[in-house]
Amino acid sequence: MIILGIESTCDETACAIVQDGKYILANVISSQIDLHKEYGGVVPELACRRHIDLIMPVIHQALNEANLRLDDIDAFAVAHGPGLIGALLIGLNTAKALAFAMNKPLIGVNHVEAHLYASLLSNEEKQPLQFPCLGIVASGGHTALILIKDWGSYELIGETVDDAIGEAFDKVAKLLNLPYPGGPEIERLAKLGNPLHYSLKAGQVKNHPLSFSFSGLKTAVLYTLQKIKDLSIQNTYDLAASFQQAALQDLVKKTLLAANHYQVSTLIFGGGVTNNQRLRNLFKEKATTFRLMWPENGLSLDNAAMIAGLGYHQYQTKGSQNMDLEPLTRIPFN
Ligand code: KG4
Ligand code: ZN
Repeated sequence: MIILGIESTCDETACAIVQDGKYILANVISSQIDLHKEYGGVVPELACRRHIDLIMPVIHQALNEANLRLDDIDAFAVAHGPGLIGALLIGLNTAKALAFAMNKPLIGVNHVEAHLYASLLSNEEKQPLQFPCLGIVASGGHTALILIKDWGSYELIGETVDDAIGEAFDKVAKLLNLPYPGGPEIERLAKLGNPLHYSLKAGQVKNHPLSFSFSGLKTAVLYTLQKIKDLSIQNTYDLAASFQQAALQDLVKKTLLAANHYQVSTLIFGGGVTNNQRLRNLFKEKATTFRLMWPENGLSLDNAAMIAGLGYHQYQTKGSQNMDLEPLTRIPFN
């Protein structure tokens, strides 16, 4: 079954074609980083307009790369949330129009759930995934620990009560005058700094040991900056390293707490922050008894291959959606 997936939840316009939920025939991602850079973050109205311009060229490019025509496509999958409402509408309406015109099924996929599926697209040759497993989504919009009982059957066991971890990287980068997106910049600078130089810690949520809080950490970076009289380049490196260490260690600690409590043997990761090599190394050091599944290059950030891949599984179990499928800015997990 050949599925064309569309992703437009935030600032990437993406189209991918995936066969049988596994084999990526095309994976086209048009990032809008250039557009949002000067504002230091995503401007929803601009993102939405750019999606309109890019969506059809991106779809054509994916078909060309896969050497397929529209009538070779068996179903159309689309991320219908969570995300920015205007941005979601572009992808969703395009998918609806294509499904309607070609008389093929429409499959609405949850973007966060799809992030967890991304690493399966790259780990296909290894042993099959053992359920239940623990999903960790660490991105610009989400920080969540999800107990995956099967594809389509989840329990949200921890999430952020304020900023997402990637959002914290982006905001701290802005404080340090680094360009957007901040995650890769912080990682680059942190390599040159001492992570123990500043004493920073991520927030703990009373009575909720698996919840995350990163907004206090960001404010602590701001206060630390304000106290430094002449900010040297080494101060910036040390601050980036200390912030990164605090944020990542918190993610590792709570993930391991959840993994031991729920007795899972596999940790499956998704979202842009999982690009961070320091994060991967920390897990390698501290989670030695677990199977770690990371998304391959091009599949950790927003992409449509994960949408088409999960769409395949969803279609097998739940079938297709009607044309009245709505875009949802939030989708509850439980
Ligand atoms: O998954 P994604 O494309 O978007 C959402 O669905 O939100 O993730 C983007 C986020 C941004 O916040 C970016 O700063 C962060 O992922 N990111 C990183 C790294 N690469 C991207 N954060 C830390 N270290 C990185 N190397
Ligand atoms: Zn995402």
